[in-house]
Amino acid sequence: MGATRSLLLFLSLSNLLCLLLVDSSMAQIPGFVSLDCGGTDNHTDELGIEWSSDNYMSRGQIATISVANETRRQYTTLRYFPADDNKYCYTLSVVRRTRYLVRSTFLYGNFDDNNVYPKFDVSFGATHWATIVVSDSTTIETQELIFLATDPSVSVCLSNASTGQPFISTLELRQFNGSIYMNQYENDFFLSVSARINFGAESDAPVRYPDDPFDRIWQSDSIKKANYLVDVAPGTEKISTVKMIDVMRDEWPPQKVMQTAVVGRNGSLTYRLNLDGFPSFGWAFTYLAEIEDLSPASTRKFRLVLPGNPDVSKAVVNIQENAQGKYRLYEPGYYNISLPFVLSFRFGKTADSSEGPLLNAMEINKYIEKSYGSADGLVLAALAVTYPSFDWAQEGGDPCVPAPWTWVRCSSDMQPRITSIKLSGKNLTGDIPREFAKLGGLVELWLNNNSLAGSIPDFSGCPNLKIIHIENNLLTGGLPPSLADLPNLRELYVQNNMLSGEVPPRLLTKDLILNYTGNPDLHEGDNRGNRKKIFVGLLAGGSVLLIVGITSFFLLPTLKRILRKLCSQEKSSDGLLPERSPSSLADPAAESAHCFALSEIAEATNNFERKIGSGGFGVVYYGRFKDGKEIAVKVLINDTFQGKREFSNEVSLLSRIHHRNLVQFLGYCQESGKSILVYEFMHNGTLREHLYGTFDRGQGIDWIKRLEIAHDAAKGIEYLHVGCVPSIIHRDLKTSNILLDKNMRAKVGDFGLSKIAVDGVSHVSSVVRGTVGYLDPEYYISQQLTDKSDVYSFGVILLELISGREAISNESFGSNCRNIVQWAKMHMGNGDIRSIIDPTLQSYESQSMWKIAEKALMCVHANGSARPPISEVAKEIQDAIAVEKGAEISSGEVSRHSAHSSSLNLPAVELQHLSVEDYVNQPTPR
Ligand SMILES: *[C@@H]1O[C@H](CO)[C@@H](O)[C@H](O)[C@H]1NC(C)=O
Ligand SMILES: *[C@@H]1O[C@H](CO)[C@@H](O)[C@H](O)[C@H]1NC(C)=O
Repeated sequence: MGATRSLLLFLSLSNLLCLLLVDSSMAQIPGFVSLDCGGTDNHTDELGIEWSSDNYMSRGQIATISVANETRRQYTTLRYFPADDNKYCYTLSVVRRTRYLVRSTFLYGNFDDNNVYPKFDVSFGATHWATIVVSDSTTIETQELIFLATDPSVSVCLSNASTGQPFISTLELRQFNGSIYMNQYENDFFLSVSARINFGAESDAPVRYPDDPFDRIWQSDSIKKANYLVDVAPGTEKISTVKMIDVMRDEWPPQKVMQTAVVGRNGSLTYRLNLDGFPSFGWAFTYLAEIEDLSPASTRKFRLVLPGNPDVSKAVVNIQENAQGKYRLYEPGYYNISLPFVLSFRFGKTADSSEGPLLNAMEINKYIEKSYGSADGLVLAALAVTYPSFDWAQEGGDPCVPAPWTWVRCSSDMQPRITSIKLSGKNLTGDIPREFAKLGGLVELWLNNNSLAGSIPDFSGCPNLKIIHIENNLLTGGLPPSLADLPNLRELYVQNNMLSGEVPPRLLTKDLILNYTGNPDLHEGDNRGNRKKIFVGLLAGGSVLLIVGITSFFLLPTLKRILRKLCSQEKSSDGLLPERSPSSLADPAAESAHCFALSEIAEATNNFERKIGSGGFGVVYYGRFKDGKEIAVKVLINDTFQGKREFSNEVSLLSRIHHRNLVQFLGYCQESGKSILVYEFMHNGTLREHLYGTFDRGQGIDWIKRLEIAHDAAKGIEYLHVGCVPSIIHRDLKTSNILLDKNMRAKVGDFGLSKIAVDGVSHVSSVVRGTVGYLDPEYYISQQLTDKSDVYSFGVILLELISGREAISNESFGSNCRNIVQWAKMHMGNGDIRSIIDPTLQSYESQSMWKIAEKALMCVHANGSARPPISEVAKEIQDAIAVEKGAEISSGEVSRHSAHSSSLNLPAVELQHLSVEDYVNQPTPR
């Protein structure tokens, strides 16, 4: 199966390779590829290795760095990539059934002027290779992997930055001739190089090309670094020779490495070193050659001693005997041995040996199990090959792992399947690739707005297909009746093609959104007369008329809008809004949102007359439609959305979220360079205005109202976090994003910063966004966004509700404290809650106040994982409301605590022995 797979891939990839892969013939030395990432032109270094620029890469940016004592040109540049959810791959061509060394190096050099040391993953194909953790801006991090090529190309991908941005300095490929790394596991495992040591080295400099024709880097044993070859036994001596060592084949260690060694004059050689990536199973070999001219009477026999590995000591080494002569290589080793992270080893002479042990070199590699990646890799590779000149087809690596290509979505299975393909408006030509019909896990297919011709393929192989968008192409032929057999099909858009024949009757009766207008030769059979048919028929007639009558290009957008509106009416009148799958939530399906004409909005807002708010994203205007409906119109600042795609992402996301505690999104408009979002109008403004602003502070909102507002907002957030799949992180919760309606019920607004969380995996984003005072410090430091960042912001809002003070203030928190969280922690840590309670609050139950104050502190815990989920917070607020309501009912009997009640100090006594951190970790007392 492996062979068939590889062959297929080879056939499908071969033409692509000529175009975009690094041509290894460019390298001076056969079998070497040396990429100078970020370099602008080719150069040859002092070793004679020719470096080529990676300027064929269309992704990422280049940076120039300068690091003291590092003059090699390839280390003066690097290429870096956005810290987003994508992966960035280099693809290198290789010869199948050949072993290679691939080496990637990373010299940070503070290229981003940030001094936040980057941390990100490197993968080799779909296999996680290493996590690069930069811990020093001037040290080169190196990763090496030995592999047997099974495909004609390999990819090295950077992804998943948890801090900083992923970057790379060099990428090298060294082809071996044959076999010393051959092993029985190599079809399923790679070897990651952990240690390659030249003992008895004459200097600190490593031995590499040209001494090693494969440019392996043999590290000197005299380098001083932490836990590298420490605990050297007394009596350890360096020896060397100028005589040639018979190494049989050139893949064995080079002469220069074998010509030096250490001997244990006192009978022992001992070393300790850290093995990165271990404990693990590994490939470990020693390289030995007798390079001392011993007298005939002397013997050199020794054993290896590994703690916890008694079997290893059974073998006795006698180099001269084992190698059948002096100056000849003997290489005892283990193909599969379990080694610890901290490896201590000793070579000890046997009792009958006159000489101490000798060691020339050593190599230890860790086995890394191959991951095969997506089950649909082959199909997608074949597809990408068809479009070699398109950026989207060159993303490289596996379509799903470690991160999906930008235009696909994948299931979370062990071997992921493609669930969604989105290639709308990509200038695709030719037939719809038949490969799609082989994607058994496909749920959504978006190929609309291309120039695809030919007939619609049979999708019977994709039983999970739910949504098919192939409208606005040049498709011909009929609608295959087999479409009606797709059990999960809910949306089928084929309008504006050149389809012909009869719409299969079963498609018309299927529970389905079907749009086949704009296909002049496509018609329904005779005597079918349901409501949908009439509706669609009318539409078809209308559009034909329009197209025939007025071919003016300018009318096309209008026509589209009309069609779109009618479609959305059709949807709602059928009550058929399909349940959204996780993938569809993320799709920029602007089609599903209502599109307003700019003229409509201009009219409703009386030419943007009344400004009712503004924020980082734009200005909000009041509007009123002819039918009396009031709206809030947000005109986005032009550069907020870098492109149409971002905008339509936003819009489609908004249009799919409905909850009574979220401000309702009504539609959008993108016309004349303006991007506009239309929301329901919220009569009572923002919570911020009520707490500090334009709404009169005198008629401030009482405690129970504040609790209700908090509860409403928490429910809205809870819906984003748990009600939406994948969950949505708001990212910018603050009092000005909590809006109040006529009845003073709260709704959360402004999803401008929302981003969809993928399968609960936390986000990595390049830019920390949010508002000062509400920003989760953990997110700020790690750039790792989770729903707990929203919980932090919500905790700040709770503290504001309790205290009536702004999140950040220069005045209200006293000296050295500008931040409400610090301030509240300080007081509550001292058991003093009274000082943080808003003095304008007239009456409240101390129990409910405590509950909320405690929960608020938990929400702002420094450590995201210690913060409660928003649903728990909502529940606590509900309990607090119940306490208040209970007190209201029995008011008079149970005394309501006024702000002057001394009973508030009671819990403080219990608290006095606890530090703040202890305190917030306590379970809530009930
Ligand atoms: C090495 O040996 C262990 C234990 O016998 C086995 O589980 C493993 O699959 C072997 N191979 C590799 C490459 O780890
Ligand atoms: C599609 O092709 C047209 C004309 O060749 C070109 O202007 C446009 O940029 C292309 N669009 C994409 C997405 O490649």
